Amino acid sequence: MHTYPALLQLVNKKITETSFGSNPKELYDPITYMMGLGGKRLRPVLTLMACDLFKVDVNKALDAALAIEVFHNFTLVHDDIMDNAPLRRGQETVFQKWSMPVAILSGDLMLIRSIDLLAKTETNQFSKLLSVFNDTAAKVCEGQQIDMNFETSNKVSQADYIEMITLKTAVLLGASLEIGARIANASHADAANLYEFGKCIGIAFQIQDDILDSFGETAAVGKRIGGDIASNKKTLLLIELLDSVHKDDLKLLQNLLAEPNEETKIAGVLSLYQKYQIQAFAEAQKQQYLDTAFHHLQAVSVDAENKQVLIDTARELMSREN
Ligand code: IPE
Ligand code: IPE
Ligand code: MG
Ligand code: MG
Ligand code: MG
Repeated sequence: MHTYPALLQLVNKKITETSFGSNPKELYDPITYMMGLGGKRLRPVLTLMACDLFKVDVNKALDAALAIEVFHNFTLVHDDIMDNAPLRRGQETVFQKWSMPVAILSGDLMLIRSIDLLAKTETNQFSKLLSVFNDTAAKVCEGQQIDMNFETSNKVSQADYIEMITLKTAVLLGASLEIGARIANASHADAANLYEFGKCIGIAFQIQDDILDSFGETAAVGKRIGGDIASNKKTLLLIELLDSVHKDDLKLLQNLLAEPNEETKIAGVLSLYQKYQIQAFAEAQKQQYLDTAFHHLQAVSVDAENKQVLIDTARELMSREN
């Protein structure tokens, strides 16, 4: 089995060798910039790992892996507009560096190119790959809209939150694994279990993302810390705080949610997170999804020792700092 660093190297080499185009500059420069900013390349690595699990040459899944990474980067370019985020991977976001119209259009082209890349896959499973890819892409849009709707709602339950992050984040990790498995001609049951494994990992991954948004270090995370608090994102942290706050702190919390000074707001909410031990709650939730993920992985019909690299990757993601 190939390791994460070995597969990451393959993905990065493929990205370096791929030209997205050059003219007009205003359209293509942001794509080259975004794809060159790095990142963990988690989703394409998962696609290759899933293919590798069935002892099929990972090069067969490389176009599809890149397709998924380009799609992911498209979602980030547009997500940063939606979230008004200044920083991504430690650098200026595309809409800040260029403009909002440029970020919209470059993002659109990334989405189109991602499907072209998927279509380059040599497989007799293409219609299945395309339906997994497009169903997933539609779910990501649904999740992103629900995420924005929740900013102005105070009635978001933990179940609503899990549903929202399943759509905006988790299904893409599931699809990354399923697509790798389908390219390797895995059975339907194995592909489905890998999808569920990825989805559960993805839920835990987004909970960790929400933890890092409040408790991480900008230098490591590469994003602005406190952005979720500033925009009243209904993260698991805020929902749990709203559920557990004593009545003597309720007025304070309500005032903080309406506080126009972002620094005051972020510092105030963070101190309530500390007071109510919200981070520990979120850590425990993450662990539960990790356990469920491992049940699905166990059901995949390959030798247990071949699954170790997926187990290690999932564990490392739980304590990631970026
Ligand atoms: C960020 O994804 C968006 C989320 C779904 C949380 P990653 O944390 O995988 O971002 P990069 O690609 O490594 O920068
Ligand atoms: C991102 O969720 C989900 C997608 C990009 C589809 P976030 O908005 O939390 O991601 P970050 O924190 O900006 O990376
Ligand atoms: Mg967002
Ligand atoms: Mg965001
Ligand atoms: Mg986030």
